[in-house]
Amino acid sequence: MQPEPWWRDAVFYEVYIRSFADSDGDGVGDLDGIRRKLPYLADLGIDAIWVTPFYPSPMHDHGYDVADYCNVDPQFGSLADLDALVGDAHAAGLRVVIDVVPNHTSSDHPWFREALADPTSAKRDWYIFRPGREGQPPNNWQSVFGGSAWQRDPASGEFYLHLFDASQPDLNWRNPDVHEAFHRVLRFWLDRGVDGFRIDVAHALYKDVALRDDPSGAERSPYAWDQDETLEVWEDWRRLVDGYDDRMLVGEVFLYDPERVAQYVGADRLHQAFNFSVARTPFDADAFRDIVQRSLRLFRRPGTTPTWVLSNHDLVRHATRFGGGEIGVRRARAASALLLALPGSPYLYQGEELGLEQSIVPPELRQDPVFFQSGRDGRDGCRTPLPWTDEPQGHGFTVGDAWLPFDKDAADRNVDTESRDERSTLSFYRRCLRLRRDVVLLEDDELTWLDAPDQMLAWRRGALAVVTNFADTAEALALDGDVLLSSADAPAMDSGHVTVPAATTVWLSVSG
Ligand code: GLC
Repeated sequence: MQPEPWWRDAVFYEVYIRSFADSDGDGVGDLDGIRRKLPYLADLGIDAIWVTPFYPSPMHDHGYDVADYCNVDPQFGSLADLDALVGDAHAAGLRVVIDVVPNHTSSDHPWFREALADPTSAKRDWYIFRPGREGQPPNNWQSVFGGSAWQRDPASGEFYLHLFDASQPDLNWRNPDVHEAFHRVLRFWLDRGVDGFRIDVAHALYKDVALRDDPSGAERSPYAWDQDETLEVWEDWRRLVDGYDDRMLVGEVFLYDPERVAQYVGADRLHQAFNFSVARTPFDADAFRDIVQRSLRLFRRPGTTPTWVLSNHDLVRHATRFGGGEIGVRRARAASALLLALPGSPYLYQGEELGLEQSIVPPELRQDPVFFQSGRDGRDGCRTPLPWTDEPQGHGFTVGDAWLPFDKDAADRNVDTESRDERSTLSFYRRCLRLRRDVVLLEDDELTWLDAPDQMLAWRRGALAVVTNFADTAEALALDGDVLLSSADAPAMDSGHVTVPAATTVWLSVSG
C-alpha cells in the first residue's frame, strides 16, 4: 500500500511574514525572525508553515505585488536566509510552503516596465492592454480593491487590466511565454527545497477571451474569474511538481461554491484548495454540520483532502466573527476543536492560537489599500503583529517600531503570558494539536453522526467522540466515555450523560 502523502492530514500554519517576528529591528517581520521562532512552531504541534510573499516588491499590497519572483526583498532578508529557514524547518520536522502570485505582477516588475516603455515589445502581450471605448475603460469589470479594473496608460492611450490594485497588472495567460516564465519560477524554488506553493487567487489567471462586459455589473464579473482554461494551468503545474518528490500545491480558490472549488483539486490538479465556505459558516450546529458533510463528500478522495479554514490575513478573525470578547473567543476555540478532529488539513492563521481578535487600527495608522480605495474596513485589523511578550515596547516582536500597532489585548494575549497559563488559548491549542497527532489521526476517516439535541453536534470517528454545544447554556447528551479534551471548562459526566458547557467542544474516548 502507498503511504499517505504528508499533506493529507497536515496542520498548516500561515505565517504572515510582516507581522510574525522581526529579527533586525525595522518593525517588519522577516525570514530570520521566522527561523528563530521555529522551536515555538514545532512545539505548538503544527506540521507545515505557509510563508506569505517575501519577494522584492514596492509593497503597495504588502508583497502580493511581486517585482522579482526569484529573489528576496532586503526588508525580509536574503536568499541565504530563505535557505537557512528551509534547512532548519526541515531539521525541526516542519515543511515549508511558499506563496506564488501568478495572476499579476507588480507594475515595478521589469516585464511590465518593458511592456509600458515599448508597446511593440514582446512583453506588451504578457499583459492585457486594450484600447478604451470612447475614452472609457474597455469593459465594465471592477477591481476587487474598488473602482474600474482598468488603468489608462497615458503614453499609449491604452488601458491595462488589474483585478486588484492598479500597481498589480494582470498577466496574459493566453501567452505561452507566461507559462514558461512560471515554470522557471517554480523550478527555482523547488530546486531550493521548498515543499510546495500556496497559489494566490488560483481561480483567476484566464479571462474571457472577448473580455465581455458583465451585464450584471457585479463586483466580480463571471467573465473575469473562474474560467475553465485556468484548470489546465493547474494540470500543467501538477505535472511539473510531480517531477519532484513529495511537494504540494494549495490554491487560494476564493469561491463560495464548494462544488466548483472541488473542480480545482484531485490527482491531476491541485492537491488542496482553501475551503472558504468554512470561514463563512456562522456559529450554528446545522450550518457546521452541513459544511462538514459537504466538504468531506467533495474533498476526501484520492489525490486531495478537505481543508479547514477559519481565518487568514484577508479575513476578519474568527473570534470576532463569532461575537468577539469572551464569548467570541470561547466559540472560536469550540469551532477550532471541532475542525481539528476531522480528517483533512486545518489551516491555522498566526495569532488564532492566542485567541486574538480583530484589532481596531485607527485611520492614521492604516496600511491596507482596500481601506483607502474601497470604503470597506480592510484587512489591517487581522494583520497586527504577533505579541510574543507583555513588554509594551515591541512585545518581543521587534525592538523597533512595529509597522502596525499591537492589539489592545496584547498585554494579556501573548505567547509568554499564555504559556504560563494552563487555561489559555495557547495551552488549549497545544493540547489539541498533540492529541490530534497521538489519538485522533490513529482513528480511521469514517464519521458517524450521533443523535443530538438542537444546537449540538455529536459524531464519532472510531473510538473518538466529538461533541460541540453551540448553545449559550450547558446541554446534555447521552454518551459515556473518558474526556480527552475540552475547549473550555470540563464537561460533567453523570450516569451515561455528558453535560457540555455553553459554546464548547469536547473530545471523548468511547468504547463499543
Ligand atoms: C490574495 C491575497 C491578498 C492579496 C490578493 C492580491 O487574495 O491573499 O492578500 O491582496 O490576493 O494578490
